[in-house]
Amino acid sequence: MEAALTYFAIAAPKHTADEEESLLPRLRTAGDSARVQALDRLDRLQQDHDEACRHHAAVDLLGRRWLETGGLTPAEAGALRAHLATLQAIYTEHIDIEDRELFPAAARLLSSGQLVEVGLEMAARRKGGSKTASHAGPRSPILRS
Ligand SMILES: [Fe+2]
Repeated sequence: MEAALTYFAIAAPKHTADEEESLLPRLRTAGDSARVQALDRLDRLQQDHDEACRHHAAVDLLGRRWLETGGLTPAEAGALRAHLATLQAIYTEHIDIEDRELFPAAARLLSSGQLVEVGLEMAARRKGGSKTASHAGPRSPILRS
């Protein structure tokens, strides 16, 4: 439980920063007619990050309470299950959109120089002894080729 809470506390914000600070701004300014069509999807991904962040905070609070007290009330356990189910639903669709649309769009619309910049920014976020790896790493278009 502690490892899972710590993983998501570290990895989720890095994933969000990878996309919202590095990838999405570059895609929004890419000069291509497909960009306009993609903007709705990019907004959707950003909304998913915001919604997931709220559920992660609730899971972290309940999970740490569980660790500290040795258990949860039935209401707290139900709330934890509901937050986890919502996160699973958000990520199932979110990851599908990333894999089918976001990463192919990045590979198609961004220059090789921009992709290198994104990769360097992602790597910089992970310097400094992070104990976990973001789930964005292996699926990143930069790391494929
Ligand atoms: Fe994402």
